[in-house]
Amino acid sequence: MTELDGHRRTLRVALLGAGSVGSQVARLLLAHGADLSERSGATLELAGILVRDVNAPRDAELPRELLTTDAEALILGADIVIELMGGIEPARGYVLQALRSGADVVTGNKALLATHGAEIFEAADQVGASVSYEAAVAAAIPIIRPLRDSLAGDRIERIFGIVNGSTNFILDSMDRQGLSAEEAQRIATDLGYLEADPTLDLEGFDAAQKAAILASLAFHTQVSIDDVHREGISSVTADMIEDARRAGYVIKLLAVCERLSEPAGDAVSVRVYPALIDRDHPLASVHGGNNAVFVEAEAAGPLMFYGAGAGGVQTASAVLGDVVSAARRHIAGGVGVGESARQSLPIAPFGHITTRYQITIEVADVTGVLATVAGILSDHGVSIATALQTVEGGEDSKTARLVIGTHRATEQALSDTVARLADSAAVTRVVSVLRVEGE
Ligand code: NDP
Ligand code: HSE
Repeated sequence: MTELDGHRRTLRVALLGAGSVGSQVARLLLAHGADLSERSGATLELAGILVRDVNAPRDAELPRELLTTDAEALILGADIVIELMGGIEPARGYVLQALRSGADVVTGNKALLATHGAEIFEAADQVGASVSYEAAVAAAIPIIRPLRDSLAGDRIERIFGIVNGSTNFILDSMDRQGLSAEEAQRIATDLGYLEADPTLDLEGFDAAQKAAILASLAFHTQVSIDDVHREGISSVTADMIEDARRAGYVIKLLAVCERLSEPAGDAVSVRVYPALIDRDHPLASVHGGNNAVFVEAEAAGPLMFYGAGAGGVQTASAVLGDVVSAARRHIAGGVGVGESARQSLPIAPFGHITTRYQITIEVADVTGVLATVAGILSDHGVSIATALQTVEGGEDSKTARLVIGTHRATEQALSDTVARLADSAAVTRVVSVLRVEGE
């Protein structure tokens, strides 16, 4: 595998995937090969690029002679394997095969790490190889290395932010340009922001996978995708965005990872959902395909990481940073950095989480309705902070819209309240229930 190039070793790099990200990694690796080799201390040779179809139309800059469908041969001859195929299989099998043959692995595959991370890190540990995945969370933003290395001496309490570029692009385009969700999704697709299966983005799976990875690193415990409470943006309508704007908010898909003090000791809560953010909050200014992640650490205090959260060339930057660092390890020797999940913190029940809510309901515009609604909230210990009633359709209308802002309440109390409201004869329709975050 490793050869000598003059006095410098040559490391063979296998690239699995030549899509939005892989094609940019190949282009940059070839264009800046000399610089990257200088930084790595080894000559990096792109040995081959695995694709499904070598004859499919591709970017003219991609060297067609390197394309192959022979995964086995490509992986077996490699020192560093870059996995940018996406999905679980065959990516999982190829990554394990690479590690077992002693290669270092670089991947941007959050779906794989959030479901099979433990197995992959275990395989790396057994041979002392490294698994690097800076691109798996928030694309170009350096967040994995800061959590794993720079903040390793601190105690992280909370991570909070926007970790999905395509849904941020869609919500932002609906809010600022009045685009329909479909139109915004089409543009995001052209920009290479969406996963091969867009449901992963729209239904919050991609953000949940990233949240699981962040929480595992931050709290040194194992969090898998199944531990994450997940809601996507498919239920967010243009009307909800307009209502939010009138109330001084913007809707963002948020990921929240928290260390909680439960009666039995520390626990972890990881959740993804669309939420209202005050227009003055820094997250409200995260536009387009950008991401922003806030980290709150005991000693460091609050930190903010911001930048491109999706896109082929932007993500290639994170991938190549990992390639350089894997090459350095290969040259220096020694074992790769292992997984930091050494604790087994329990996952806090979702019903225990507290936040503020905005409940929008349509009610019959008759005497006593407000008292009935207030009574239902009070029965469940949900305290009203603000209430705004507007009569729809003028003086003769029989329907009013009521927007209730609550003080902090538990998810359990909130869901019980909403169920009672939905059943109440006073309420015609529950229009929306959104959490209010970032305050
Ligand atoms: P694409 O769908 O654009 O590209 C996937 C590539 O993998 C294609 O070249 C495809 O080959 C190849 N491939 C897929 N399955 C197989 C298979 N079974 N055998 C051989 N080759 C295969 O994906 P992206 O580049 O967008 O994403 C790659 C990874 O990076 C994913 O894990 C994604 O989550 C992650 N990521 C993506 C970001 C983005 O902004 N796009 C940002 C951060 C991470 P072919 O070309 O022949 O179809
Ligand atoms: N589909 C992902 C997103 C790509 O929209 O954030 C970056 O991980």
